Amino acid sequence: MCGIVGISAQRDVVQNLISGLKALEYRGYDSAGIAVLTGHGVERLRAKGKVRDLEALQAVSPLSGTCGIAHTRWATHGAPSTDNAHPHVSGAVSVVHNGIIENHAALRAELQALGYEFTSQTDTEVVAHLIEHAQRQGKPLRQAVQETVARLHGAYSLAVLSAREPGTLVGARLGSPLVVGLGEGEQYLASDIHALLPLTRRFLYLDDGDVVELTREAVQVFDAAGQPAQRAVKESHFAADAVERGEYRHYMLKEIHEQPQAVADTLEGRIAGGHVLTQMLGVDAEALLARTDSVQIVACGTSYHAGLVAGYWIESFAGVPCKVEIASEYRYRNPVVRAGTLFLGISQSGETADTLAALKMAKGRDYVARMAVCNVPESSIVRESELVLMTRAGPEIGVASTKAFTTQLVALALFALELARAKGLDAARYADGVRQLEQLPGLIAQTLKLDGQIRALAENFAAKQHALFLGRGTHWPVAMEGALKLKEISYIHAEAYAAGELKHGPLALVDKDMPVIAVAPNDHLIDKLKSNLEEVRARGGELYAFVDETVAHGLDADHVLTLPACGEFAAPVVFTLPLQLLAYHVAVLRGTDVDQPRNLAKSVTVE
Ligand code: G6P
Repeated sequence: MCGIVGISAQRDVVQNLISGLKALEYRGYDSAGIAVLTGHGVERLRAKGKVRDLEALQAVSPLSGTCGIAHTRWATHGAPSTDNAHPHVSGAVSVVHNGIIENHAALRAELQALGYEFTSQTDTEVVAHLIEHAQRQGKPLRQAVQETVARLHGAYSLAVLSAREPGTLVGARLGSPLVVGLGEGEQYLASDIHALLPLTRRFLYLDDGDVVELTREAVQVFDAAGQPAQRAVKESHFAADAVERGEYRHYMLKEIHEQPQAVADTLEGRIAGGHVLTQMLGVDAEALLARTDSVQIVACGTSYHAGLVAGYWIESFAGVPCKVEIASEYRYRNPVVRAGTLFLGISQSGETADTLAALKMAKGRDYVARMAVCNVPESSIVRESELVLMTRAGPEIGVASTKAFTTQLVALALFALELARAKGLDAARYADGVRQLEQLPGLIAQTLKLDGQIRALAENFAAKQHALFLGRGTHWPVAMEGALKLKEISYIHAEAYAAGELKHGPLALVDKDMPVIAVAPNDHLIDKLKSNLEEVRARGGELYAFVDETVAHGLDADHVLTLPACGEFAAPVVFTLPLQLLAYHVAVLRGTDVDQPRNLAKSVTVE
């Protein structure tokens, strides 16, 4: 994912810009660049590859200056290359950009007609030319940026530098984050506070539509109407390094608690003005989705469970048939591929051998395209796929997948909505789905506050040998994920069943020693599920019901955990959280190795 850093100071800023980029590396990127104001105007260095490649250029031909911008790019428009790397320059102006400019083609044509020449395939370059053009008409930098962003459709965060106004940086955001860091005699901009934590702990979070002007002495924010605005100063207590455990006892617990931010990152720049941006999947996506009339999902482990949830969404929202299969099965059979089928591989690591093999096998077949939902940008599965949707969970260290799963669900929900839109889903249902996704980071944060209650429930499980998880519809795979978490890290034998199947076998296992966990949001299946749970109660099973607040009183269970009410896109994410926390606390009580459970690996690169 792209990253932005900008600094206006009295001292040379190049080393701090590069350090800021390094702090953003975990987000994934394929090129990096830096631009500073020198005695010769705006000068820049750009490199395909890593920040260390940029540092190598800096060692050979060093730049120095007191005001600069820097960027890590994850390619969307145009391949990873030096020419496509940011900052982009037009005349005296230099720009870095995160997000997608949807109307870039029309703007490009207009600017070309005015004589501007393009040196990249990016959507960003139009922004540099538009600002330069406004400045040539005599506009100050801030006004030039305000007039430019008024013409952009899509999502952006921007940092802009102009040789016409040395020492000034202008930032702008819509649908993509940008924060201002406040220093002593120097001020900063970044897309993520991690880039600035070594420099300051005081931040201003900009609102959508804001434009900000920074000099080393002062910061002025203007709202979407162009009026001066005040934004509260917030002090951050964040640990500086994304792969440090920080205050947490285990990586798994840290990663569980990172989910509000990870999900916000997955949504970042992909929703604007109440709709999902089609180009999040790349420039060819619209045409490919139009040709898609069925979907084949292939994955392993936790990623397979995310695929199962997506299968329900794709059929119910987009009306498109969807098959979901374990990669190790798919790759060794001879699947019938109907014309018009999109192949969708899901993988946190992007390196799982069976999923990669299935993806490669799909190449020679008659699929519309091969798409990856993945968390590691430069992974084999990403490189092998024609369409890519990154989950942006950040590094996941715990072997038991947590934030990778919930961000997969969010990415797949975005995809299901986008496919549904391409197939003509009614506007109200679409808008409701988008709204649910936008509310998710807050709902997740609210749900994680139940940690104390879940820890208390975990005491009852620590001495058990078996557990049964039940759910219906999308919450059947959520129950499967809950059972997988428990068995992976606590070594308790756990199974998940679609609740309607209970009486066809597993009911024979139910007695007072069998804890039964029911995933029970208030969806269209709740009455059916309640009947299934009566069957458990009648056999003396110890019932744990995870319900939302709207069913809390209508359900007879030994233990009830009440979660926030949420819609059909949000609920599978929200209901996963207590299952993760339950497994975690049971494992801690049993004294197992939570982050590195016996016999398991994070990334399974062998068959
Ligand atoms: C391993 C991991 C699981 C993961 C599965 C698939 O088994 O321990 O957490 O779900 O691989 O991995 P992937 O990286 O393809 O999602």
